[in-house]
Order: sequence, then C-alpha cells, then structure tokens
Amino acid sequence: MRIAVVGSGTMGHGIAEVAAISGMEVKLIDVSWDILSRARERMTESLRRLHERGAIRESPEQVMARVEMSISYDVAKDVDFAVEAVPEVLELKRKVFQELDRVTPKGTILATNTSSIPISDIAEITGRRERVIGMHFFNPPPLMKLVEVIPSKYTDEGVVQFTVDLAKRMGKVPVRLRVEVPGFVSNRIFLRLLQESCREVESGEATIQGVDYTARNVMKLPMGMFELADYVGLDVIVDLWKVITERGAEDVPCRMFRERVERKELGVKSGKGFYSYPSPGKYVKV
Ligand code: 3HC
Repeated sequence: MRIAVVGSGTMGHGIAEVAAISGMEVKLIDVSWDILSRARERMTESLRRLHERGAIRESPEQVMARVEMSISYDVAKDVDFAVEAVPEVLELKRKVFQELDRVTPKGTILATNTSSIPISDIAEITGRRERVIGMHFFNPPPLMKLVEVIPSKYTDEGVVQFTVDLAKRMGKVPVRLRVEVPGFVSNRIFLRLLQESCREVESGEATIQGVDYTARNVMKLPMGMFELADYVGLDVIVDLWKVITERGAEDVPCRMFRERVERKELGVKSGKGFYSYPSPGKYVKV
C-alpha cells in the first residue's frame, strides 16, 4: 500500500512515521528541503525511542527506508491514499486538495487531518468529493491511539470503511463521527476544558499550576491543561478556536492565549508558553 502525506510538521511527520511503521510505502511532501530534513530528524528520533523500548522491532533505518521525501506532488502519482496535514487555513488546504486531485489516480482516497474545518468545504474543491474524508490524528501520532474518522455529506460508505480499516492497520482505534460538527468530538471537549481553565486563571480564582495540578491529580489526565496547550502549540489552539468560533461555536474570551501567541510564545516549539522548555522543540515534563 502506498500513502502520501502532505505537510511534514507536528502532525504530518508523525502520521508518516505511523504509516511507515505499519509497513506502508510513504511519500512525504512539503514545500522545502529544510522542513523535510527537520521532519526526517524528528521521525528518526521518535523511531529510535520506540525501538529502544521494544515498541517496534525494525530499526529506525529500516522504517525510514520506506519513506520518500519530496517537494513535488509528482511522487503521489501512484498512491492509494493521501492525508493532508497542513495548517488550519481553508484556502491552503483547498490548494493542497486541488494538487492531490490533479496528480493522484481517480480512485485514490483523499483524507484531511483537519481538526476543525468541515470536510465538505474541502471536498467541494475536488472532482471526487465522494472520495474525500476526515482522518484526525492526535499529537503525538505514534503514541496516541485515537483517530477520528469524519465522513462529509458526500463521502461514500466504502471510503469510510476503508479509512476505518486503514486506521486499524496503523494500530489505531478509529472512532467514526455521525455528524460533521465544527471541532468534531475531541476538540470540542478539549477546548471546553481549556476555556474553563483559562477563565479560572484570568478571573484570579486559580493559578496555572493549580489548574494543572488538578488536571493531573484529580482528573488523572497525563498532562495539565496548560501543559498540554504548550505541547500542542498555542498558535494551533488559537487557530482552532478561531475556526470553530467562525462556524458558530460560542466565542472564547481567552486573553492569555492570544497575548502569548502575539509575543511568539507558542509553547514547547518556541521554548516558552505557559511554562519554559530549555531546548525548544523538546517536551520535558513540567
Ligand atoms: N515518539 C516516540 N516515543 C515518545 C514520543 C514520541 N513522539 N513522545 C514520548 N515518547 C516516549 C518517551 O520516550 C517515553 O519512553 P520511555 O517510557 O521508554 O522513557 C514514553 O514515551 C513516555 O513519555 P514521557 O515520559 O515523556 O511522558 P508521558 O508518560 O507523559 O507520555 C505522552 C507522553 C504520551 C505525550 C503523554 O503525556 C500524553 O498522553 N499526553 C497527552 C497528549 C494528548 O492529549 N494529545 C492530544 C492533544 S489534542 C490534539 O492533538 C488534537 C489537535 O487537533 C489539536
């Protein structure tokens, strides 16, 4: 099976890694060789950690041998499945889908890893809207089991089934959504929790550390709410909030996030968000 992944950032390189681990031939596409080279480093490092603790049998080199990187869509000309994982900007995603629609065989399924944009809005730009679907992974893709599978109003039932089976083949637990709602299921819950956490801190009722301690020790979440926000990226969250607010979800008056994004304090990736990280890009428990 051959799969293309477009976008090699936080989610894209992780999705490509998961596909390669499960034996697929992967074409990873991005706009520059610098970005792709960074993706290669991150994938190799993640594979090394998985290999070291026995989670995968193959060496990082063996897995990476199935990954071809490219700055041209031409490598996707014979793929069976494609996943787009570029930033949450509708126009950008539509451009990617136009390219994939042009280059891939007519039967190829085109999936988007969007976390909030309605799948139909993306599908409509293609000449195969019944073969377009949402396949939403979670960060970090190699470790998080859940994958949301989101059919649009146009998606063929066979395409949904194929995507569910593909997620299982990748070792994931697919959850099929019944209705296409902004933010799907997971992010609506995630953003509500973040919104309340934010409200409590901004009103002076609690501290960031107090909220995070509660999330970890009472709710038994693996990370505190602000820690998780840093991990995902504050810019990603602000974009997500924007998209779902524009599509009718209630507005989120969360000043703390917007201010940090304006100061380029984006979380783990920039070395500072709600907490500080000594090596930007490297998560350490706070
Ligand atoms: N690749 C491979 N291995 C990794 C890794 C990665 N990317 N990240 C961590 N690991 C390994 C570590 O090396 C460690 O291995 P070891 O046990 O052999 O030392 C093991 O995983 C555990 O890692 P840590 O000790 O660093 O930390 P944790 O035990 O806290 O686990 C975590 C890390 C799995 C990320 C866990 O903290 C977690 O589940 N956090 C919540 C993540 C989450 O909720 N993600 C969803 C965000 S929302 C989203 O993505 C949607 C989007 O649309 C916004």
